[in-house]
Amino acid sequence: MSALLVIEGLRKRYGERALFDIERFTLEAASAYVLTGVNGAGKSTLLRVLAGLEPAEARALHFDGRKLALAPYPDALRAAVAYVHQHPIMFSTSVAHNIGYGLLARGAAKGQVKVDVARAMAWAGVEHLHASAPASLSGGEKQRVALARAKVLRPRLLLLDEPTANLDGAAREQVIALIPTLIAAGSTVVMACHDPDLIGLPGVRRMKLRDGRMEYRA
Ligand SMILES: Nc1ncnc2c1ncn2[C@@H]1O[C@H](COP(=O)(O)OP(=O)(O)OP(=O)(O)O)[C@@H](O)[C@H]1O
Ligand SMILES: [Mg+2]
Repeated sequence: MSALLVIEGLRKRYGERALFDIERFTLEAASAYVLTGVNGAGKSTLLRVLAGLEPAEARALHFDGRKLALAPYPDALRAAVAYVHQHPIMFSTSVAHNIGYGLLARGAAKGQVKVDVARAMAWAGVEHLHASAPASLSGGEKQRVALARAKVLRPRLLLLDEPTANLDGAAREQVIALIPTLIAAGSTVVMACHDPDLIGLPGVRRMKLRDGRMEYRA
């Protein structure tokens, strides 16, 4: 196993309040993790820090063997990390445009974007929605579109904040079924969650934020 990301001395504070102080945060390449912890433990904040959406302090950071700084957030991480918000926000254009936008922004050729978007929509089971307005989607459809939008970027590190939290029944099961295929595609996946079915997925390692420290479990 090789380390994808190692951060030493990862600390986040809000004013006087120290939210977490993690001596060593490590993610292996092509591995899956669930991140648990009580409400307010700092799970979402940690994912946002890893995605460069929130500042934090770090003593040292290595990504893919390269020494980098956490601030300013490095381009190498921006290109490698995808983050899926618990309540995905979308442009009010079409589903297909939302999924392809990140690729176009990276300068991918239009023809290739079309192929990749079609493949990602088939993967997420949302082909029939390609021309739909995002505002008209159900919660489960929106979450699957958000996963497709992240997957199409082929991220080395995929951060999912409570991907099933607002779903139940078939919608929840459809999202859970997509997760192992994301892992199989070679991304390192970190899921903040309380969902026992995600926590119990085979091969998923567990880490827990408790009182500002990280506990690693088998
Ligand atoms: N911008 C902010 N300023 C001050 N405090 C904040 C800010 N953002 C988050 N917090 C606080 O940091 C703590 C951790 O929040 P966070 O959303 O990361 O928790 P969480 O583990 O994701 O919780 P949940 O299980 O409810 O999603 C909370 O107490 C929250 O109020
Ligand atoms: Mg949260």
